[in-house]
Amino acid sequence: MYDYLIVGSGLFGSVFAYEASKRGKKCFLIDKRNHTGGNVYTESLEDINVHKYGAHIFHTNNKEIWDYVNRFAEFNRYTNSPIANYKGEIYNLPFNMNTFNKLWGVIRPEEAKKIIEEQKQAAGIKAPKNLEEQAISLVGTDLYEKLIKGYTEKQWGRSAKQLPAFIIKRLPVRFTYDNNYFNDRYQGIPNGGYNVIIEKMLEGIDVRLSVDFFKHREELEQLAKKVVFTGMIDQYYDYKYGVLEYRSLHFKTKVVEETDNYQGNAVVNYTDKETPYTRIIEHKHLEFGTQAKTVITEEYPKEWKPGDEPYYPINDAKNNEIYKKYKQLADQEADVIFGGRLATYKYYDMHQVIGAALAAVSKEFAETAPDFTGPP
Ligand code: FDA
Repeated sequence: MYDYLIVGSGLFGSVFAYEASKRGKKCFLIDKRNHTGGNVYTESLEDINVHKYGAHIFHTNNKEIWDYVNRFAEFNRYTNSPIANYKGEIYNLPFNMNTFNKLWGVIRPEEAKKIIEEQKQAAGIKAPKNLEEQAISLVGTDLYEKLIKGYTEKQWGRSAKQLPAFIIKRLPVRFTYDNNYFNDRYQGIPNGGYNVIIEKMLEGIDVRLSVDFFKHREELEQLAKKVVFTGMIDQYYDYKYGVLEYRSLHFKTKVVEETDNYQGNAVVNYTDKETPYTRIIEHKHLEFGTQAKTVITEEYPKEWKPGDEPYYPINDAKNNEIYKKYKQLADQEADVIFGGRLATYKYYDMHQVIGAALAAVSKEFAETAPDFTGPP
């Protein structure tokens, strides 16, 4: 008899399995995919680590989490500095003095602030009614038209006028010449890819792949005293309160033979409306690769329907209401721990899901944990 049946080998399931087995518990981990790691899994193509489920850049402000992941792998010095391609014009992201210089020819921060302020005033929006008005009221018309509108409309598959204002709460604008996307103290990519971390966490643990919990639920549940469930919570309860909705993505990955350097940067966002994908990832640049060929992935946003890969939860009022009902049921379960992005219907960055798993471990083993949740 196992102590825990862990459903899902993403970061939540793997951290839980590692910590529980360190405490002498027997774990049995299953995943419906044919590999471990969940969405942080990388696949080697032309000797390049390809981020199969979208680019994953680790970043955190929390020293405990940073020290924790560094126990499993060394991290490189990768700093996320995406660029935007708007109809062939190149701009630095996040919005900073390099972006403003390219847009308006301004050199000093005061000049950039003045232009943004003038555009906000000219738009005269007092109470934004939709995403378009919200974005213009935050950063003015030029940044909105060239760098926000097309990208956001593709991402959500709707006009910015039909999208609610709350989607964009704030738009970080930086008045320094700093292209580092994240404000966090620590960031990087694990040398050898995330698989190295997952493999170390799961060393010595019984793992079975290509096993869907729902296809063998009864027999699986009998194998362990408790279940750690990281799949979709609505499916766990047979969709009795309805289906929780997501946005999905479609990835087109290609080996480029003709060149060893396709776009000169790991992440290029296409911010016009016409290009059908939102961004192209050139994977080798995440690891400063020097391979002879290169591999790129085009990322296409996609409407989600049941059966598709669920990527981004749609946390609007309707879905949050449904989730609340499932959560009430989950809270009554004595022998099931729900965790990770699908079981809590929440977008988590990697450092946050690791923090949540470590907090679940502390709760389960009645230990006082260091502050792993940390600042966002
Ligand atoms: P995850 O989805 O990884 O794992 C769940 C596992 O459960 C899966 O392997 C699944 O197959 C399995 N499963 C589900 N149902 C099952 C069933 N019925 N039976 C058996 N197995 C089942 N974060 C960050 O910090 N930096 C970044 O750059 C990015 N980038 C990024 C890009 C994109 C496109 C997305 C969508 C997300 C990111 N993230 C990110 C977030 C990151 O992917 C996320 O924090 C973790 O993958 C969450 O790990 P989980 O364990 O919660 O889920």
